[in-house]
Amino acid sequence: MAFHDWKLFLFLGRQNAFAKAWRSRKGSPSLGWKRCCHWSAGKSVDPEMRAFLEENTEITSSGNLTPEIQLRLLTPRCRFWHKKLDLWPYGDPFWAIYWPGGQALSRYILDNPCVVKGRSVLDLGSGCGATAIAAVMSGASQVLANDIDPIAGMAMILNCELNHLNPFPITIKNIINSEVGNWDLIVLGDMFYDEQLADGLHHWLRKCIRIRQTKVLIGDPGRHEFLRHRIHSQLHKVVEYSLPESTRQENNGLTSSIVWSYQPSNSLEGC
Ligand SMILES: C[S@@+](CC[C@H](N)C(=O)[O-])C[C@H]1O[C@@H](n2cnc3c(N)ncnc32)[C@H](O)[C@@H]1O
Repeated sequence: MAFHDWKLFLFLGRQNAFAKAWRSRKGSPSLGWKRCCHWSAGKSVDPEMRAFLEENTEITSSGNLTPEIQLRLLTPRCRFWHKKLDLWPYGDPFWAIYWPGGQALSRYILDNPCVVKGRSVLDLGSGCGATAIAAVMSGASQVLANDIDPIAGMAMILNCELNHLNPFPITIKNIINSEVGNWDLIVLGDMFYDEQLADGLHHWLRKCIRIRQTKVLIGDPGRHEFLRHRIHSQLHKVVEYSLPESTRQENNGLTSSIVWSYQPSNSLEGC
């Protein structure tokens, strides 16, 4: 199965079964830096890893909702796009796609900087880091990117460089269910694609709101798992964006992406 076919499994809601089957066929090579879970700003990328990422991604700022952000992504011009996924030496490269949920969140933050200005922001499941980058560009006082994939962490450092930003702190620890941090805002792009993950997120986000009054913004293009999850009835629609043609083509059947505010008792305050 080639990379672009693998993407469809996620869109069709079969990511979990597929990922499990795929992982049982091969193990990810061990990564020395996986042991260190928190990278403070200024962490550098291992030269071999940098070379791999640079060789196997393309710098792009088109075909998505935020042309002002440059990203290294896997595109049809990259060799792995057409190759069998078995040949990809690391875990599923979610970070190599700029997902519609993250696109909508980033667009919203760039257009409404007051949402993050002077605030501390956690980008949970940050992938390529575009939403965290949008938060930095819009004046957030503190940004932490969190993704359990260490390669995503490396890709985010490269993406910060591309946008002439000092890399923000990154943590690759699974923080869902851990102690609630003092975040003003948590943003989550395309994170409700798996029922178990969605349940864990729902529980933890509720705790963040209850204990810290954290604001929560969720970007999602209307995935089946998200629409049918019980969190959906407690969301307030903030804005809906029509997806660019190439994002539509890559996201089988999805035409728009929505930013939702999760405030169980009241909706997000204005700027
Ligand atoms: C569909 S991608 C979305 C990436 C990005 N937010 C975007 O919209 O482009 C989901 C990301 O969540 C990460 N992820 C999955 N489970 C996670 C967890 N428990 N904690 C943090 N990140 C997680 C994956 O590694 C992946 O990069």
